[in-house]
Amino acid sequence: MQPDPSLDPATLAARFPPDFTWGVATSAFQIEGAVREDGRADSIWDVFCRRPGAIADGSDGALACDHYHRWQEDLDLVARLGVNAYRFSVSWPRVQPQGHGAWNPRGLDFYERLVDGLLQRGIAPHLTLNHWDLPQALQEGGGWAARDTAQRFVDYARGVARRLGDRLRSLTTHNEPFVQAVLGHETGIFAPGLQQRAVALQVAHHLLLSHGMALRALRADGVGCDLGIVLNLAPVQPASESPQDRTRARIEDGRLVRWYMDPLFRGSYPADMLEEFGADAPTVADGDLGLIATPMDFLGVNYYSRSVVGASGAVDPKALGAELTDMGWEVYPGGLTELLLRLHRDYPVPALYVTENGAAFRDECVGGRVDDPARTRYIARHIAAAAQALAAGVPLRGFMVWSLLDNFEWASGYAKRFGIVHVDYASQRRTPKASAAWYRDFLLAMRQRAAA
Ligand code: FCB
Repeated sequence: MQPDPSLDPATLAARFPPDFTWGVATSAFQIEGAVREDGRADSIWDVFCRRPGAIADGSDGALACDHYHRWQEDLDLVARLGVNAYRFSVSWPRVQPQGHGAWNPRGLDFYERLVDGLLQRGIAPHLTLNHWDLPQALQEGGGWAARDTAQRFVDYARGVARRLGDRLRSLTTHNEPFVQAVLGHETGIFAPGLQQRAVALQVAHHLLLSHGMALRALRADGVGCDLGIVLNLAPVQPASESPQDRTRARIEDGRLVRWYMDPLFRGSYPADMLEEFGADAPTVADGDLGLIATPMDFLGVNYYSRSVVGASGAVDPKALGAELTDMGWEVYPGGLTELLLRLHRDYPVPALYVTENGAAFRDECVGGRVDDPARTRYIARHIAAAAQALAAGVPLRGFMVWSLLDNFEWASGYAKRFGIVHVDYASQRRTPKASAAWYRDFLLAMRQRAAA
């Protein structure tokens, strides 16, 4: 790796305010394991993993990073990085196994220990309620395609907030409704593995609806932490200036960005997309759009790459000639600046967080060390891209690296490693990679500036 002076930790740190939120992120199903312990029931991902061929390496979440048992060691790793924030999710079937009715006290106790463990270490807890692991019992009643699931989610949100809300910095309703709806119900490559566009669009609507309903209920309950949602977004660029490519890019932007941003921040679905979806457009009841547009405190953005589309669809990133990650995603930091500027320009977003950014690369642990210059450079360049958006006036408040640990990367299983800490799955040994050391140095530079 050529040293790039603009990526030097101290130079980069000087571009952020001292009170900026810096974190690492994880999600329950990807790290916890202990899927049959202490009263947890199946989620849709436990069931999906049993489907032959669904997971690339045939693996599942049964053990994952064994975080359920190793959480103290993991929080110590978080603390050693010097971050001031940790983003994690609650497994709904661990705390309310059937998705309605009885609570599981041992499940709630786990998250209470986790939250208190973070606070003891001086780290602010950022909790996500739904990072994809819907209780299977609710799936059997129709899952997110059933309107009733929105009400079940409100009850779940209130129950978690009643127990933990006084100690959280922020609470996120859903992680990436697009992925849950489209990958889960249209392409079917993620749980629950259905393949019908009309269903996917109804699911997306119910996710958004339940977000708005939950925000109202939590506010009425007096929950004081920041409330928001996390979307996976990207700039969608036409492959050329031809009218055909531009039209297709507009539609893809509609599917990925506007279909979520417009109802959340303008109270309406985009007219061109309603036309595009035709009979597949969702059933929307009176009052739904008003609920969806309930003002939130922040929007979380998960950013990994851009999307380039031509008249016949997405352009293969390999054809773009840039560096690719192990997921085959193009490394394109400028897209983060572009995306944040656009969100700020087009929508009244009160505050933004980058809630996920990071990269999978093939790592090797050699002699107790993992040298991952490509990941370090990826993260540093995206932090620099975030600084650029901040300087241009975007109300960006924080940045969280995906992920703390190598973990269960959904349909890719354990083969794709996103961690800044390496996990040896046979021994469960954790080894901070060189990227973790870089992040620690960067955060140290941040604190030194704040103290100066
Ligand atoms: C996002 C997910 C996260 C992780 C990263 C790589 O879509 O929110 O759980 O899998 O991608």
